[in-house]
Amino acid sequence: MKTKISVIICAAGKGERAGFGKNKLLAPLYGEPALRHTLKKFDMQEIDEVLVTSSESDFEEISALTAPFGYKTVLGGKTRTESVKNALKQVTGDIVLIHDGARPFLSRELILNCIRSVKTYGSGVCALPATDTAVYANLGVVSARTDRNSLYLLQTPQGFKTEDIKSAYSLAGDKTYTDDSAVYGEYIGAPRIIEGEKSNIKLTFKDDFKRGYPPLPSAYGQRIGFGVDTHCFGDGNFVTLAGVKIECDRKLIAHSDGDVIIHAVMDALLSASGLKDIGHYFPDTDARFKDADSGKLLTQVISTVKNEGFTPVNLSVSVQAEKPKLAPHVNSMVQNLSALTGIPVNNIAISAGTNEGLGFIGEGLGITAYALVLLNKD
Ligand code: CTP
Ligand code: MG
Repeated sequence: MKTKISVIICAAGKGERAGFGKNKLLAPLYGEPALRHTLKKFDMQEIDEVLVTSSESDFEEISALTAPFGYKTVLGGKTRTESVKNALKQVTGDIVLIHDGARPFLSRELILNCIRSVKTYGSGVCALPATDTAVYANLGVVSARTDRNSLYLLQTPQGFKTEDIKSAYSLAGDKTYTDDSAVYGEYIGAPRIIEGEKSNIKLTFKDDFKRGYPPLPSAYGQRIGFGVDTHCFGDGNFVTLAGVKIECDRKLIAHSDGDVIIHAVMDALLSASGLKDIGHYFPDTDARFKDADSGKLLTQVISTVKNEGFTPVNLSVSVQAEKPKLAPHVNSMVQNLSALTGIPVNNIAISAGTNEGLGFIGEGLGITAYALVLLNKD
């Protein structure tokens, strides 16, 4: 028979040390409530049931987060011990992992290791070997030393056979503990340690929300945008591309200076920010933009994008042109784009190619530029 796996996610705290004036788990992390990141981590096929503890005051808000995952929200208690005890009453699995909602950075592998350890040894408690030497001190004076080699720092998840941890908690009565392995250790037996993860920190203080731990799996708070522009050739003797004036036996016809690269970049930036396109901001029916310096328009677009709370990270441009030859100008074009956008030169790439004589580009009738940009949400 299949072993049924349950998870309790503890989210019934007040988050006082984080100082948000509300439960820290409802404060934003990478653009969504911190708790939601933790919830997502347990949305895996191997897990059959998830219960999330909540205080009475957060119940509605936490239920709204848990419902889309099909998780149950259960009323917690005054202490974490009480919260777990309440949740355990409703656990129906054979194995239960107990996890702090405040640890969103754990990996899928850690969850699977924890389950495996319970199946093999009856328990599995994530812990990291201490790398700093720890001592006991009283009134600022070292009173005793520890042996670092046998010192571990406990994390969650902590997994147990449900019947064991249920009976441990019921034997514990009203006593309060800092973690579940302590309850298990007191009434059932020595819990088994499995190697935790450095990145599996517990969000405790406000600073922990800003430290930017990237191991979250997808690009939270990041946006990509794509832009394209084409202009046709007319009589002239130079073209302007990415702000660089390049000799040519033709020019690009446009209301502005016809800088297809900058136009594509502007559209990519606006698109990534979820805004309307350059035609909306700089209509070609507006005399103010007649022969406009596209570099200036790009500067305006950058400030619009920044006002939306985004910072450009990298830019990738591809140009299709039968002429002029662009390779000798790529470095200057990159420098210009970097100066205009604030993106470091190493994060900007421009590739250029012909269209092998095919189509309007191949026939030398015009130039097309494509741009792809990545933005970070601040
Ligand atoms: N927790 C809980 N029930 C409580 C207290 C805490 O379910 N009565 C949960 C928290 O929501 C958190 C985890 O236990 O996910 C670990 O606790 P901690 O980091 O101490 O969170 P808080 O108690 O919310 O924070 P603080 O101690 O700063 O108030
Ligand atoms: Mg606490």
